[in-house]
Amino acid sequence: MFLPQEVIRKKRDGQTLSAEDVRQFVAGITDDSVADSQIAALAMAVYFRGMELEENVALALAMRDSGRCLHWADLQLPGPVLDKHSTGGVGDVVSLMLGPLIAACGGFVPMISGRGLGHTGGTLDKLSAIPGYNPFPTPERLRQVVREVGVAIIGQTSDLAPADRRFYATRDITATVESIALITASILSKKLAAGLDVLVMDVKAGSGAFMPSMADSIALAERIVEVGNGAGVRTSALITDMSQPLASTAGNSLETAEAVRYLKGDERNPRLHAITMALCSEMLLAGGLAASEDDARLQLEQALDSGRAAEIFARMVAELGGPADFVEHPARYLAPAPLVRPVYAERSGFVAAMDTRALGMAVCALGGGRRLASDQLDYRVGLTQFVELGQWVAADQPLLLIHAADEAGADEAARRIRSAISLSEAAPAALPLVYQTIHRR
Ligand code: URA
Repeated sequence: MFLPQEVIRKKRDGQTLSAEDVRQFVAGITDDSVADSQIAALAMAVYFRGMELEENVALALAMRDSGRCLHWADLQLPGPVLDKHSTGGVGDVVSLMLGPLIAACGGFVPMISGRGLGHTGGTLDKLSAIPGYNPFPTPERLRQVVREVGVAIIGQTSDLAPADRRFYATRDITATVESIALITASILSKKLAAGLDVLVMDVKAGSGAFMPSMADSIALAERIVEVGNGAGVRTSALITDMSQPLASTAGNSLETAEAVRYLKGDERNPRLHAITMALCSEMLLAGGLAASEDDARLQLEQALDSGRAAEIFARMVAELGGPADFVEHPARYLAPAPLVRPVYAERSGFVAAMDTRALGMAVCALGGGRRLASDQLDYRVGLTQFVELGQWVAADQPLLLIHAADEAGADEAARRIRSAISLSEAAPAALPLVYQTIHRR
């Protein structure tokens, strides 16, 4: 007989759970036969005791199997099914370009994206800024768009890894989110349910990252790579810099507009471009769509230069209900914020450090992010024209521009921004954009 308390006891005492223990416990989370208090107790036991690789694989698979899984084999797609997942950050608009780029190079990308919470933006929110865009197509329609366009960026439905939703909600209120084993199983359960051949993780490191230290980011990336491969998906990870916002903008409509400018070649922020290329190259190599790094880069440059990636993005938007001329005329559809105001440095110096998390919270305070899952967003607001780390700024030079709904919002954001950006007499050392790439050992 399955007794949840026996599974909890085993983990509490540092023993290894069997795949059957894990499956039964997760089944109990899904059908509500396991109590919230028992989920909390197991989460705390795992937080302190960790999990062996096999237990972690079993947990990811059991949570995947708690709901609906997507299957692609019957469509006989002429290329691999791939996706990228980021642990999140500020101005991380990579997905909007990466999906169409990979599709332009022969891959198929069913990207199930999330809403932003706290300081990190969510891909789903950026696309929801497009009038008419429906991120919740029927399963059949999703398959059709992926098959015909090559990419569909959609939202997570409640039938996907439902055990994770309940498990995460309990972790969130019991100080047990920060367990590498549990984060790994949570992220992978949703990605495994998408039926991928290849997953590339973008694990952020730095002041805007979800994980507090480089050591934690590396440990998380290594564990995700091991568990992802253990669960049958070719998984690799890049550890990338989030010591400053990645794009030139942060905020939903602003980032969507930047993605369109990027795809059309009107403006390409060099850091955003470098990270996008690095992640796309890794995907093309892992998916067998490129023979070498040089080949991957060449294909990606061609997809951009020929306008094919922009065209694919435009088709995806139109197929999912957005305007057919969105890429041609984004300004017709993305309303600007009523107020745009610079924040001045007030002294001169080199930009020495940014509290990127605080910049993300400034966007949130403007109404562009959520403190509670139920909060409504103001898509118009955000920040643009950031100074960069290492840049010299004069006292009368703006650190960035605030896009706000009103004066009070702009004042509050300006206050947060001034204390989030530190200036110094000496230029700081330049940071790498990609710290490390992790493949299966
Ligand atoms: N994101 C997830 O999806 N799950 C976690 O546990 C943490 C971050």
